[in-house]
Amino acid sequence: MDLAERLNDPALFKTQSYVGGAWIGGDTSFAVDNPANRQKLAEVADVGEAGAKAAVAAASDGFKVWRKTSPFERSRILLKWLDLIQDNTDDLATLITAEMGKPWREAKGEIAYGAAFIEWSAHEAARVHGETLPVPAPGARGWTIRQPVGVVSCITPWNFPAAMITRKAAPALAAGCSLVIKPAPETPLTALTLAELADRAGFPRGVFNLICGDASKLGPIMTGSPEVRMIGFTGSTEVGKLLMRQAADGIKRVALELGGNAPFIVMDDADLDAAAAGVVQAKFRSGGQTCVSPNRIIVQDDVADDFVERLQARISEVKAGDGFAPDSDIGPLIHDEAVERVDALVKQAVSGGARVVVGGQPLADELGGSFYAPTLIEGSGFDSEIARSEIFGPVASVYRAGDEKHILDLANDTPYGLAAYLYTRDIGRVHRMSEGLDYGMIGVNAPMVGSASTPFGGMKESGIGREGGKWGVEEFTELKYVLLSGVNS
Ligand code: SIN
Repeated sequence: MDLAERLNDPALFKTQSYVGGAWIGGDTSFAVDNPANRQKLAEVADVGEAGAKAAVAAASDGFKVWRKTSPFERSRILLKWLDLIQDNTDDLATLITAEMGKPWREAKGEIAYGAAFIEWSAHEAARVHGETLPVPAPGARGWTIRQPVGVVSCITPWNFPAAMITRKAAPALAAGCSLVIKPAPETPLTALTLAELADRAGFPRGVFNLICGDASKLGPIMTGSPEVRMIGFTGSTEVGKLLMRQAADGIKRVALELGGNAPFIVMDDADLDAAAAGVVQAKFRSGGQTCVSPNRIIVQDDVADDFVERLQARISEVKAGDGFAPDSDIGPLIHDEAVERVDALVKQAVSGGARVVVGGQPLADELGGSFYAPTLIEGSGFDSEIARSEIFGPVASVYRAGDEKHILDLANDTPYGLAAYLYTRDIGRVHRMSEGLDYGMIGVNAPMVGSASTPFGGMKESGIGREGGKWGVEEFTELKYVLLSGVNS
């Protein structure tokens, strides 16, 4: 069957929320649209405050059961969820493409990426353990234990409708926490299908809850309820700060993966072809709508002309189109306001003296959805708006700079510190510059930094905490110290 036609099958996705092992509706609903053609895909129930309260209560009951479930059993259920997700990859990818826009083959890649976090976490569940410690008192013994934090609220974004859920949910579940998840209103359908598959996997009732609705109603309950002990969020720095303020009242734990302003540094000894290919891969993933997307491509002066030419050739080949068309390299942006924002940044850059090398305009009229042309500009100042704010669209902006020190100063001159990229073949530079870059992740001659086994997260205003690897699971545990005296009486 044609992939897009599959969307007409009402059995493909749910439109109600999943709370305490049951599907619940609400008094109101909201529309989910396809950004590639602005057609309505579904009307999803908004569960409101009552639904959010029910979800927190269910998670609180679920936690009592799950924290006592053996880590091997937790692992078994997580692996069942993994199997079900892998078996349903095509349908999940279809939902991602329909509600978010990224090309279908890239959406399949996202399912594989997201599934890897479940696999890793399932195996990690049985490796959460404490240590015995030397203690000063004679006849005493000391040890640590790691226990689950408790009920965790996860608020997830639309740019990775599946992977940003699994990257939080799987380690939290592995650690023994229960969940209340709220997906972005733009992409609830993929999330609801993940909940359906979690139900089939057999998590005990109340362990996995997923609710949809207006953030202004659901958010305060998800962050303010005393039963909730931790908030995991991926999204903008602005919303991250708000959640951190809300969490402060109850001294709740936060794990925040926020905005970025990634420098992509090309040194004069770099393999320029590999660097140009790297920019295209990192920049146009998810249509430029990732928090690790190269925002400032900083090239050493003496290779800049050559590099811009090579990049121009590659970006001219990137094709925007409906994600269900097999030859589309990038899909639409998430909505028309995103197109307007990106276009305003480009126009402002041009009026400040930048040159458009490729693209530079919306493609809504030609393609009939929220499309923006794959774009290359150069010549903006480091103080321009496009250099200082997160572009979140398919626009590559090249800057020229001098020596290593100059480049490091410019790269670090931002409140953000998520990902940076460095292309060089000089091993001394690799060490000096990766140590000098104030970023949580650095890709050296590597355009993709995230994976299930490695720590994903940022410094400064890009966030707190790490997702992935053993760190991702530890994030959802409390470290408890026990001292026993009188052993050698
Ligand atoms: C994000 O943009 O939030 C995540 C990107 C990634 O996992 O690579």
